[in-house]
Amino acid sequence: MNTDIANFICRRLVGRVAIVTGGAHGIGKAYAQRLSDEGAHVVIADIDGPAAETSAATLSARPGAGRSIGFRVDVSNEESLAHMVSNTIEAFGRIDILINNAAIFATIPMSRLPFDEISVDEWDRMMNVNLKGSWLAVRAVAPVMKAQRYGKIINIASGTAFKGTGGRIHYVTSKAGMLGLTKSLANDLGAYNINVNCLAPGSTLSEENATEEIKAMREGKANKRPLARTQLPEDLVGAMAFFCASDSDFVTGQTLVVDGGVYMH
Ligand SMILES: NC(=O)c1ccc[n+]([C@@H]2O[C@H](COP(=O)([O-])OP(=O)(O)OC[C@H]3O[C@@H](n4cnc5c(N)ncnc54)[C@H](O)[C@@H]3O)[C@@H](O)[C@H]2O)c1
Repeated sequence: MNTDIANFICRRLVGRVAIVTGGAHGIGKAYAQRLSDEGAHVVIADIDGPAAETSAATLSARPGAGRSIGFRVDVSNEESLAHMVSNTIEAFGRIDILINNAAIFATIPMSRLPFDEISVDEWDRMMNVNLKGSWLAVRAVAPVMKAQRYGKIINIASGTAFKGTGGRIHYVTSKAGMLGLTKSLANDLGAYNINVNCLAPGSTLSEENATEEIKAMREGKANKRPLARTQLPEDLVGAMAFFCASDSDFVTGQTLVVDGGVYMH
């Protein structure tokens, strides 16, 4: 990010502890950086353990940043999530923010095929990571947040859930599930002063080392947007930070679509 702009970022999250699942690559990495810039201690919990460690070390080394740690977590595995919580508590003593961002999408790629050509195994894997993994991650952190009587949970859906995009039914269905998960959790956790909201990104050029084909696919979406340009990970971090900060203390159960105006609701 341009340093002049970075200098204007508020430090609304000083002392807060934030976990970003899938924070070692792509958009999750941008969320982690913004949380750190806002003063939070960041835990990068990603199935790619070495990349999580490297990203956390890079964040911690930034001037004025909070301390960050990163390690391997598989969000589809309860034991691994219990380890995520105990590691975080040991390092920082609390958990204020959970960004449920991990997914099978780009870094671990999904098949883009007609609905009847997706294998049952891939359907199950998609649901286990994207949807069940988010539910399990909330189950893991909720006792800590309830005891604190404070928490901000942000689920990551996708504009595809609203559009019903074809050619990836397992992914679209998992992301549509995030909309219901968000509302149901907001009802269950509101009494504990825990806000649960959702972000739905549009098609975002998040791929590291994107091929010309991927760039063309992402850039091709630009002319379908009222804000006619390619969406980048940085376009999502402001909305994410809003849901993490006290500015959104009376907002819960909501989904904010950040896609340059493709889907308006
Ligand atoms: N890029 C887009 O166009 C777009 C659009 C809408 C929504 N999204 C959503 O935004 C989020 C980030 O997308 P991205 O483009 O950065 O994709 P990405 O594939 O680069 O990021 C997903 C991250 O999750 C991690 N991960 C995968 N399985 C995991 C597991 N079992 N446990 C823990 N970590 C795991 C990956 O290693 C990766 O770091 C995803 O939830 C995605 O569905 C992306």
